[in-house]
Amino acid sequence: MSALTARPAWQALAAHHRQVRGVHLRDLFAADPGRGERLAAEGAGVYLDYSKNRVTDETLRLLVRLADESGLRARIEAMFRGERINATEGRAALHVALRAPAGAAILVDGANVVPQVHAVLDRMAAFAERVRSGAWTGHGGKRIAAVVNIGIGGSDLGPAMAYRALAHYSDRTRAFRFVSNVDATDFVEATRDLDPAQTLFIVSSKTFTTQETMANARSAREWLVRGLGTQAAVAKHFVAVSTNAAEVARFGIDPANMFEFWDWVGGRYSMDSAIGLATMLAVGADHFRALLGGFREMDEHFRSAPFARNLPVLMGLLAVWYADFFGAQSVAVLPYEQYLARFPAYLQQLTMESNGKHVTLDGAPVAADTSPVYWGEPGTNGQHSFYQLLHQGTRLVPCDFIAFAQPLNPLGDHHDLLIANVLAQGEALAFGRTADEVRAEGVAERLVPHRTFEGNRPSNTLLLERLTPAALGRLVALYEHSVFTQAAIWDINPFDQWGVELGKALAQRIVPELAAAPPGAPAHDSSTSALIRRYLQLRR
Ligand code: F6P
Repeated sequence: MSALTARPAWQALAAHHRQVRGVHLRDLFAADPGRGERLAAEGAGVYLDYSKNRVTDETLRLLVRLADESGLRARIEAMFRGERINATEGRAALHVALRAPAGAAILVDGANVVPQVHAVLDRMAAFAERVRSGAWTGHGGKRIAAVVNIGIGGSDLGPAMAYRALAHYSDRTRAFRFVSNVDATDFVEATRDLDPAQTLFIVSSKTFTTQETMANARSAREWLVRGLGTQAAVAKHFVAVSTNAAEVARFGIDPANMFEFWDWVGGRYSMDSAIGLATMLAVGADHFRALLGGFREMDEHFRSAPFARNLPVLMGLLAVWYADFFGAQSVAVLPYEQYLARFPAYLQQLTMESNGKHVTLDGAPVAADTSPVYWGEPGTNGQHSFYQLLHQGTRLVPCDFIAFAQPLNPLGDHHDLLIANVLAQGEALAFGRTADEVRAEGVAERLVPHRTFEGNRPSNTLLLERLTPAALGRLVALYEHSVFTQAAIWDINPFDQWGVELGKALAQRIVPELAAAPPGAPAHDSSTSALIRRYLQLRR
C-alpha cells in the first residue's frame, strides 16, 4: 500500500464512497432544502456553488481531512515563503510573488524578490505608455499599429487568452496577434496584412531556446528586414521577454529592450509576469495592475481561508474525489462568457502540464490517477455539440460552469437568455428526468429510455459580478491553486514538465535527417523510418 492510499482519510473516503456512490443528487436535495445555499462558498469576489456535487457533509469532512493529512497547509506556506518546492528542478515556484504588493518581502536565497518584480512592472508600464501614446515609433518614425507576440505554451496561451478575455478593455486602434505554431501558416497569416514599418514583435520565451519560438522569431526578423531594407530596424521593432539575457542579445535584441522574469516563474504560471507585456500593451498598465490585484485577492483567500470554505481547496478536493474515487477521466470547463473562449485552452496547459505526472516527489509510482483531462468550450455553443454526451453518455464528466452577472455588452435580453441556459444545464445534469416524468408527458413507451436523463451528474457553478481584469486574475489564481491542492494530495511536483522533453529531443534528431537523404540503415523504428522516406518522396 502506498503512502497515499494508506492515509486514514483516503481509506475512510474509499469506504465512504462505497456507501454514497449510488446516492442521487435528487435525494440529497430533497433531504436538505437548504443545500443549495449551504454548500456554497465565497472568496475574493467569486461565488462557488458546489451543492450539485455528489458529496455529503461526511464526504466534505473526509476530503478536508485528506488535505490535512497530505500536509496541504505546510505546502501552501512553503510555496508562499519561496522554498524550493519545485524539487526536481531545484527551484522555488513563486508566481505569488508576481502579484505581491510593493512593500511585501518574499525571499529567495535570502534576497527579497518583490522589489525586482515591481521594477520590471514599472519598466513594462513605461514602455507600454510610450507605445500606446505613440511616443515609441517604428524605425521610419511611424506609430506602432500592430503588436505580434511570438511565443508558445506558457509564453503564448496566457497572453493570448488574456488579450481575448479583456478585449472589452483593450486598445482597438491597434491589432494584436499571437504566433505560436512552428507551422509557417501561423506566422504568414498573422502578418499577411501588417505593415513592417508599424509592427512591433515581442519575442516571449523563458529560455529563448524553444525551437518553435526561435524559428518564428527568425522569420519575423527576416520579414522585417526585407520589408524595411535595413538590419538597423530591428532595434525599434523587436523587444524580448525572457530569463535568458545572453540569448536575447545574441539574437540581436538590445538588452535595454528586454523585460525580465526569473527561473522561479513556471511558463504556465507566467501570464502575470513580463510575459503579460502584450496584455499590458492592449489594456494599459492600470488594467494590468488591476489584474494582478485580482490574483492577489485569491492568493490571500487561498492562504488564509479554512479549507472547508476555501474555494481552490474545495475545487481541488472535488477534482480528486471524482478522478480517484469515481474514475472520472475528464473535467469540462464551460464559461458562459464569449470573451473567455480561450480560457479552457489556457487551463489545459495549467492543469495537465502541471499534474499529468506518474511519480510522486520521491520518484515512486503514484498510487492513484492524477490529472483528469481538462477541456471545454464557451456556452451556449457547446450545448449544441458535445453536451449530449454530458447528459446521456456513459461517462461521468464533472463540469465547471463559469458565469458573470453583468454583461459587458448589454443587448436586449441576450444576457438573461445566456444565464438561463447556464442555470438550466446545471439543473438538468443534476436532476435529470425520470422515466415516470417522461411518461407523464405522454411520450410513447418505446421512446421513454431515449428521453430519460439519469441525472446525478456533478457540476460546480462559479458566479462573478462582471468580467473585469481583477475578475480574470481571481479566476486564473483559483485554478492555479486548485491545481496545487490536487498535486499536494497526490504528492507530485506540479511545477516541472519533463514529459515534454523526449518529443523535443527526437524532433531535433529528425531535423537533419529531413535536410538530406536519410542514411541507409533505419535510424528509427520501422514505422518512423518509413514515414520519413514517404515524406521525402512526397516532398519532391
Ligand atoms: O514545452 C513545454 C514548455 O517548456 C512549457 O512549459 C513552456 O511554457 C513552453 O515550453 C515555452 O517555453 P519558453 O517560454 O522557454 O519558450
